[in-house]
Amino acid sequence: MTKILKTLDGKVALVTGASSGIGRATAFELARRGAKVIASARRRSEIDTLVAEIGEAGLEATAVVADVNVEQSVIDLVAKTISTYGRIDIAFNNAGTEGGFTPFVDQSNEVYDTIFNANVRGVFWSMKHEAKAMLAQGGGTIINNASMGGVIGFGNAGLYVASKHAVLGLTKTASIELFKQGVRVNSICPGIIDTPFQDRIWPSTEAKHAFAASSVPGRAGSPEEIAKVVAFLASDDASFVSGHSLLADGGYSVA
Ligand SMILES: NC(=O)c1ccc[n+]([C@@H]2O[C@H](COP(=O)([O-])OP(=O)(O)OC[C@H]3O[C@@H](n4cnc5c(N)ncnc54)[C@H](OP(=O)(O)O)[C@@H]3O)[C@@H](O)[C@H]2O)c1
Repeated sequence: MTKILKTLDGKVALVTGASSGIGRATAFELARRGAKVIASARRRSEIDTLVAEIGEAGLEATAVVADVNVEQSVIDLVAKTISTYGRIDIAFNNAGTEGGFTPFVDQSNEVYDTIFNANVRGVFWSMKHEAKAMLAQGGGTIINNASMGGVIGFGNAGLYVASKHAVLGLTKTASIELFKQGVRVNSICPGIIDTPFQDRIWPSTEAKHAFAASSVPGRAGSPEEIAKVVAFLASDDASFVSGHSLLADGGYSVA
């Protein structure tokens, strides 16, 4: 069995969108590395199950229901993190949605609102309230889940791609303002990752696998592969990394 380095020992980590996919795997990975984890999402039963599994592994986590589309819910989530574990060292702003993939001329105002509310305003509110708490305690690190769609275009995903470009803008700007005050801010840009998100955008499992197989990397990544990237950015090994957008896409976007 591989020995896990406790690179996050003593740290407190908040993960949004922890009920599924990349967020779920990351909450587990951060706990494995020694962090106390607040696992948050809207679906109570999924985060309760995750927290029970983390507990069975002898690790520490607490489930907190929150909706990043509601500012008060985000404020309460940050406050609950601090009241539970005393501080907030790491925040992984991962909650997001694909909204609806359609040709550009068919993208609706409803899809715009769905995507931008969660992916941009939800990340903005999360960053704002986490950063305030981190500044008050003297430091911390924020990692936003953007996408390779934050650096390249993607057919039928105009609004989603625009939302992820916006996440990189928030990341770069916040880093410029906050690094000198001890808060590092980065984004990750995953490629095709095999999560329920991909299940929703393809008409069948066969179509999903065929697309991944025909893509530049020849396969989808796993949520666990992304979780390890987040764990690196969250650790002190990344102490001079800020404002960065780390592609983890098997080379998809550089071809
Ligand atoms: N899978 C990919 O290929 C891929 C590639 C690049 C980037 N990403 C990004 O990765 C992130 C996670 O996606 P995933 O692939 O892991 O998909 P997923 O399994 O569908 O997870 C999405 C998560 O976001 C949460 N969420 C959505 N809206 C929310 C809201 N308003 N408030 C709180 N939580 C909310 C969901 O939880 P609840 O429904 O329980 O609230 C769920 O935990 C997203 O930001 C996505 O854009 C995914």
